[in-house]
Amino acid sequence: MGMEQSALQSFDLGSGPLMPDSFIMETGQVDLTVYTSKERFDAEREIFGRVWLNIAEASEIPNAGDWVVRDVKVRSSSILIVRGKDMVIRAFHNICSHRGMKLVWDDKGRGGKFSCPYHAWMFDSAGDLRHIPDEGCFPHVDKQASGLTPVRCDTWEGMIFVNLDAQGTQTLADFLGPVAQRLKDVPFGSYPYTARVGSMIDANWKLAIEAQCEAYHVRALHSRTVSKMLSSAENPYVHPLHTEFLGAHRMNSVPRNPDFALSPEKLVQAFSFMNAQQMVIADTGAQEKPEETFASHPDINPIRSNVWGNDQYVLYPHFIFHMSLGGWWLHRFWPIASDKCYWEAVYHFERPQSLRNQFAVQYSLALNRDTLMEDNLALVQQQEVMESGAKKIVQFGEQEALCKHLAAVSEAAANDAEAARTAAQ
Ligand code: FES
Ligand SMILES: [Fe+2]
Repeated sequence: MGMEQSALQSFDLGSGPLMPDSFIMETGQVDLTVYTSKERFDAEREIFGRVWLNIAEASEIPNAGDWVVRDVKVRSSSILIVRGKDMVIRAFHNICSHRGMKLVWDDKGRGGKFSCPYHAWMFDSAGDLRHIPDEGCFPHVDKQASGLTPVRCDTWEGMIFVNLDAQGTQTLADFLGPVAQRLKDVPFGSYPYTARVGSMIDANWKLAIEAQCEAYHVRALHSRTVSKMLSSAENPYVHPLHTEFLGAHRMNSVPRNPDFALSPEKLVQAFSFMNAQQMVIADTGAQEKPEETFASHPDINPIRSNVWGNDQYVLYPHFIFHMSLGGWWLHRFWPIASDKCYWEAVYHFERPQSLRNQFAVQYSLALNRDTLMEDNLALVQQQEVMESGAKKIVQFGEQEALCKHLAAVSEAAANDAEAARTAAQ
């Protein structure tokens, strides 16, 4: 399998054009301390404070007044995202204007009215301060100026992004660069049935992303779960079908094993696969497809491979989404410390039409969960021994091109952040 790769492009994270680190792109070698050092983590904390971060989906808050709360712990921030009466999605820092209490303690709700748990100051869905109990005692409070602190917020194809830099001027479209021109009207909405999972992982957030960015590990680490669905006689090491570097971001087309056969030893799996398309492999021909599928969209499976499994997009810094025949899914990896991250995944299926269907969806989720547990448990082992200092570098191969490109973009971004910090001193 050849591994054609597109040319490198410059990218802009709001501080001017940068190029992915050329040594990393050339050799695949990355200084191992990027996963362990406090200095690198500090640079990343700065970067998370000024780039666009994917944080939620517009479909989570379909109606006026619907809201969700998401934490960005690396910035000690909690973000309230709410759909206003005018249907515009806005984001605010989740902190009260009276004495700095966390305003909303739940993670989702509706109604668009927020009463602080401490002394019951009341805010509305536009962030305006509407009511102060015993207001006469606050002669100096400017009510107009005491609304919630806004966070820059924008959406792309139903995905909500925020940018914590109030002074920043880069638009979401500019940040997305070449990705923004693609995937117009992709039928994300055809898969409205969702399931969410998440957990804390004792590993650097970049290690967690890397595990979702290459299929080289599938034969070894996933030999008990999904290996046979992906690894084929033609393409045993699951080389990507297609790779593109898209500014600060990147994409892969991932193959499936066209000869995957249901095993008589795995009756539950066989029953499940006969009743719905699965996430990991692709078409079992079991289910009616929606009119518009990912496979029929011109930007997806761009080389029109007949062994296509899914397309994955890996957006800098922390967001991945995959589109397959059976649905789509996303991951967000939130840095917490150099050796800790919070991982969340959201799966999107077609709405199950029957109990058989429902069972198949649950089976697919369980299989995904088992596979991801294999990844996440491995990451903890990796982080633990990386801290020993015994190895100086990690080395990416050509089939790990997305990891390599992410490392090269991260390196350039971290150096740029470091240079800006030194210049400011
Ligand atoms: S801190 Fe919110 S009402 Fe007092
Ligand atoms: Fe994996």
